[in-house]
Amino acid sequence: ANITFITQAGKSLKLAADSGSVMELAVNNNVPGIDGDCGGVCSCATCHVHVAPEDWEKTGAPGDLEKDMLEFDDNVNEFSRLSCQISITEALDGITLKVAN
Ligand code: FES
Repeated sequence: ANITFITQAGKSLKLAADSGSVMELAVNNNVPGIDGDCGGVCSCATCHVHVAPEDWEKTGAPGDLEKDMLEFDDNVNEFSRLSCQISITEALDGITLKVAN
Protein backbone atom coordinates (compact mmCIF):
# COMPACT_ATOMS: atom_id res chain seq x y z
CA ALA A 1 0.00 0.00 0.00
CA ASN A 2 1.16 3.56 -0.69
CA ILE A 3 1.07 5.77 2.37
CA THR A 4 1.80 9.48 2.47
CA PHE A 5 3.22 11.07 5.62
CA ILE A 6 3.04 14.82 6.16
CA THR A 7 5.72 15.90 8.61
CA GLN A 8 5.36 18.69 11.15
CA ALA A 9 7.52 20.79 8.85
CA GLY A 10 4.92 20.29 6.12
CA LYS A 11 7.00 17.94 4.01
CA SER A 12 5.20 15.16 2.21
CA LEU A 13 6.82 11.70 2.11
CA LYS A 14 5.32 8.95 -0.02
CA LEU A 15 6.24 5.45 1.16
CA ALA A 16 5.08 1.95 0.35
CA ALA A 17 5.00 -1.43 2.10
CA ASP A 18 3.04 -4.66 1.96
CA SER A 19 3.21 -5.71 5.59
CA GLY A 20 4.27 -4.67 9.06
CA SER A 21 2.91 -1.68 10.90
CA VAL A 22 2.70 1.92 9.74
CA MET A 23 5.10 2.87 12.55
CA GLU A 24 7.70 0.39 11.25
CA LEU A 25 7.38 1.80 7.75
CA ALA A 26 7.90 5.33 9.09
CA VAL A 27 10.85 4.42 11.33
CA ASN A 28 12.56 2.39 8.60
CA ASN A 29 12.38 5.43 6.35
CA ASN A 30 13.33 7.99 8.99
CA VAL A 31 10.09 9.91 8.93
CA PRO A 32 10.80 12.79 11.35
CA GLY A 33 8.62 12.78 14.46
CA ILE A 34 7.82 9.06 14.41
CA ASP A 35 10.20 7.43 16.85
CA GLY A 36 8.50 4.21 17.87
CA ASP A 37 10.30 4.22 21.21
CA CYS A 38 8.38 1.32 22.71
CA GLY A 39 8.92 -0.89 19.67
CA GLY A 40 5.26 -0.98 18.75
CA VAL A 41 3.56 -2.23 21.90
CA CYS A 42 1.25 0.73 22.34
CA SER A 43 2.97 2.24 25.35
CA CYS A 44 4.88 5.36 24.26
CA ALA A 45 2.73 7.42 21.83
CA THR A 46 5.84 8.53 19.90
CA CYS A 47 4.19 7.06 16.81
CA HIS A 48 1.14 9.35 17.00
CA VAL A 49 -0.42 10.41 13.70
CA HIS A 50 -3.54 12.26 12.63
CA VAL A 51 -5.33 10.37 9.89
CA ALA A 52 -6.71 12.51 7.06
CA PRO A 53 -10.45 12.76 7.78
CA GLU A 54 -11.34 11.25 4.39
CA ASP A 55 -9.18 8.20 5.20
CA TRP A 56 -10.59 7.52 8.67
CA GLU A 57 -12.84 4.76 7.29
CA LYS A 58 -9.77 2.94 6.01
CA THR A 59 -7.72 3.00 9.20
CA GLY A 60 -10.64 2.63 11.56
CA ALA A 61 -10.84 3.85 15.15
CA PRO A 62 -8.31 3.09 17.90
CA GLY A 63 -8.79 0.13 20.21
CA ASP A 64 -9.35 0.59 23.96
CA LEU A 65 -5.70 0.24 24.98
CA GLU A 66 -4.69 2.65 22.25
CA LYS A 67 -7.34 5.15 23.33
CA ASP A 68 -6.06 5.05 26.91
CA MET A 69 -2.53 5.74 25.70
CA LEU A 70 -3.64 8.61 23.47
CA GLU A 71 -5.19 10.34 26.46
CA PHE A 72 -1.68 11.18 27.66
CA ASP A 73 -0.82 13.01 24.46
CA ASP A 74 -1.45 16.78 24.19
CA ASN A 75 -1.93 16.85 20.48
CA VAL A 76 -4.77 14.35 20.32
CA ASN A 77 -7.78 14.94 18.08
CA GLU A 78 -10.66 12.87 16.76
CA PHE A 79 -8.45 11.46 13.99
CA SER A 80 -5.60 10.39 16.24
CA ARG A 81 -4.08 6.92 15.93
CA LEU A 82 -0.92 5.29 17.18
CA SER A 83 0.67 4.17 13.95
CA CYS A 84 2.19 1.02 15.49
CA GLN A 85 -1.37 -0.19 15.93
CA ILE A 86 -2.20 0.15 12.23
CA SER A 87 -1.24 -2.92 10.20
CA ILE A 88 -0.40 -2.31 6.59
CA THR A 89 -2.72 -3.98 4.10
CA GLU A 90 -3.75 -3.10 0.57
CA ALA A 91 -6.89 -1.58 2.08
CA LEU A 92 -4.78 1.34 3.31
CA ASP A 93 -3.59 2.24 -0.16
CA GLY A 94 -3.58 5.99 -0.77
CA ILE A 95 -4.06 7.19 2.80
CA THR A 96 -2.46 10.32 4.19
CA LEU A 97 -1.20 10.60 7.77
CA LYS A 98 -0.02 13.73 9.49
CA VAL A 99 2.79 13.25 11.99
CA ALA A 100 1.45 14.49 15.32
CA ASN A 101 4.70 14.72 17.29
FE1 FES B 1 5.07 3.11 21.04
FE2 FES B 1 3.41 3.08 18.97
S1 FES B 1 5.50 2.76 18.97
S2 FES B 1 2.92 3.42 21.04
